[in-house]
Amino acid sequence: MSIEFNTKAESAETVKADCVAVGVFEDLGLTASAKRIDRASRGAVRAAVSSGDMKGKRGTVVVLRAPAGVASARVALVGLGASGDFNEKAYAEAVSATLRGCGAGVTTLAIAATEWKVAGRGADTLARALVASARASVFRSDELKSKQARGAADAQTPRRRITLLTGGRERAVEDGLRQGKAIANGVDLAKRLGNLPGNVCTPDFLAAEARRLGREWGLKVQVLDRRQIAALGMGSFLSVTNGSVQPPRLIVLRYEGGARAGFADPVALVGKGITFDSGGISLKPGAAMDEMKYDMCGAAAVLGTFRAIAELKPRINVVGVVPACENLPSGSATKPGDIVTSMSGQTIEVLNTDAEGRLILCDALTYVQRYKPAAIVDIATLTGACVVALGNVHSGLFSPDDALAEELLAAARHSGDTAWRLPVDEEYQEQLKSNFADMANIGLAGNAGSVTAACFLARFVKDQRWAHLDIAGTAWRGGAAKGATGRPVPLLTDFLLRRAA
Ligand code: BES
Ligand code: MN
Ligand code: ZN
Repeated sequence: MSIEFNTKAESAETVKADCVAVGVFEDLGLTASAKRIDRASRGAVRAAVSSGDMKGKRGTVVVLRAPAGVASARVALVGLGASGDFNEKAYAEAVSATLRGCGAGVTTLAIAATEWKVAGRGADTLARALVASARASVFRSDELKSKQARGAADAQTPRRRITLLTGGRERAVEDGLRQGKAIANGVDLAKRLGNLPGNVCTPDFLAAEARRLGREWGLKVQVLDRRQIAALGMGSFLSVTNGSVQPPRLIVLRYEGGARAGFADPVALVGKGITFDSGGISLKPGAAMDEMKYDMCGAAAVLGTFRAIAELKPRINVVGVVPACENLPSGSATKPGDIVTSMSGQTIEVLNTDAEGRLILCDALTYVQRYKPAAIVDIATLTGACVVALGNVHSGLFSPDDALAEELLAAARHSGDTAWRLPVDEEYQEQLKSNFADMANIGLAGNAGSVTAACFLARFVKDQRWAHLDIAGTAWRGGAAKGATGRPVPLLTDFLLRRAA
């Protein structure tokens, strides 16, 4: 890792680093630390402001070299924009602008970001956000590049130690940093897995990653193979694997942090692990089909969340279930019209083999109920319709349980990993009627695609506290900076930490 974090209770002018970063608001002017530096340096900061070099504009950074009276070798003045607009996003941008602009020669950076106040956010949340932003700025997925290419990129990324000046908020800032690091470790794992291609990140690869997590972090991990999956009666899950030569895996992880003996009342996380989704016989169009390697981002989020909580050790039990397989066409693939029997006993007419996520999730949802979970949350890149509805800003949240939905929304707000609630009403259920089986796997009318997908899942979690997160739009980004985002690891981790508290 090329970036480390710690805290210091020192003040900006006396802390000794290669650079100390202080904020300047467009409307309010100098922050407290900027004023202290200004006093110590007999007006160096105000000179930068009055000369017009630093107007406090968002995203701008001005570096003063060796100002007199300041212990650090440089001072970075960081423009924070208008204080009224200074939200979580602006804070994250200010952090990454600081890292970019403080000088390539800077190895140790002290940053007075505790006083970059965002309305409604505590010092702990901002410390978390600092780590998230800094870690995102150095993340790379280059393990499949040549050694030379990796070396060249390494040489461009300086190793850095970031010291967050606590400004009298030691405990909160330290807690925030600790959580931020663990969450960033989880996010980075989810990003890495999401970015790995389908020929590397196979169902068995995901299983091996889960086992490794188990070994390194003391989690219990079980991996079921095709024979064991068949013995459980998971005919719906297995129908998706028919066209693939990669064997399916059902991965079960357990984190045992609960106060009482035994594995009582766990929270269940169920993640869609389609390591490549071609659509199957209902083949997808060719354009950007490579992006369907991200169809295991629900699984990646489960593993990432386990990584984060294994480090933070909250007092809670958590079970993770990941059905993992490929969805490919072949002579043995499931065909439109085929009828399969799920583990629950309900039969499903597969009208479209591209609606495969729900076919693997329904059996995983049935399976996880043997743990008598306190709540079940499934996470899936489930529908293109969710991307149409919410874009890449909010994950879609579906739950018939208002209290659980509110809990998840609170965690979403608090972590900045946002979600938006959509309905799962009975009225939509009739779209899933089939003349020949208990249900069809797609909605008859072809509208409300994300809702009918959620309604399909709801049929397998009767009398359970259950929520579904559709992360099709939020788990990855297209375009030039394409890649997995690691969402919703921050949301899920926050949810579990709050439950444990
Ligand atoms: N994995 C896709 C959903 C998806 C689409 C994720 C775009 C990310 C970006 C899912 O398996 C799928 O193909 N869903 C179909 C459902 C349809 C056939 C009812 C879809 O959304 O088109
Ligand atoms: Mn599909
Ligand atoms: Zn899919």
